[in-house]
Amino acid sequence: MQIQVHDTAFEAADRVAKILLDHIRSHPRPTLGLPTGGTPLPVYAQLLSDFRAGRSSWRHVRSFNLDEYVGLGSDHPESYARYMHTNLFAHVDCPANQWRVPDGLAHDPEAEADAYESAIDEAGGIDIVFMGIGHNGHIGFNEPGAPHDSRCCCVVLEPETIQANSRFFSSAKNVPTKAITMGIGTILTSRKLVLLATGEGKAAAVSSAIEGPISQMVPASALQRHADVTIVLDRHAASLLG
Ligand code: F6R
Repeated sequence: MQIQVHDTAFEAADRVAKILLDHIRSHPRPTLGLPTGGTPLPVYAQLLSDFRAGRSSWRHVRSFNLDEYVGLGSDHPESYARYMHTNLFAHVDCPANQWRVPDGLAHDPEAEADAYESAIDEAGGIDIVFMGIGHNGHIGFNEPGAPHDSRCCCVVLEPETIQANSRFFSSAKNVPTKAITMGIGTILTSRKLVLLATGEGKAAAVSSAIEGPISQMVPASALQRHADVTIVLDRHAASLLG
């Protein structure tokens, strides 16, 4: 596991953007796993500015998002499909059929999760999964207790996650209670993992994930099982590391 600590959140995000751009530039058919949330926004801003400067193209990129709320379609302002469209894909040259988010409106969310897993397999797996981390150590929407070999599935969100994500909704009661997520096992089968965490609020989760025992109660601790993991932190998120 490689741990990089940067002075500011901007520098940490810049580092992650560079890792993704190096891969996009050097691979004929790059396949990425991508997160939503507050942490990746400066990374997406960097990717866009690189694209606008003509230094990168997304024409051959395929991507699979980590998760989506059950019940929200791509026209919902808080859906992850809308987030990805607004913050990245509306502005780059990636064909619409090459970036995918689980369908939150699928009639059968479990079947959608299975289809999503199969689509990842058919794409030949994911080269780099870029992810954030929840305050409770979740990755994707794999909450504490999730098995480390889980595949794409439909999950129930923890009250703490609903509370944390209510900042994007008018109130906590409008946050969906279920999501479709890549499983921890799905994430671990990817060739490279990059986790970005910034801010003091993530320090405890980062320390348990990296320095604590591998435990189902800390989903991100599963990353310790992977051979190619880069953890990119600002100094606040790194403040509890020994
Ligand atoms: C989002 C996702 C989540 C977030 C995590 C941190 O697609 O998979 O695991 O990465 O909840 O969210 P932020 O960055 O908003 O603190």
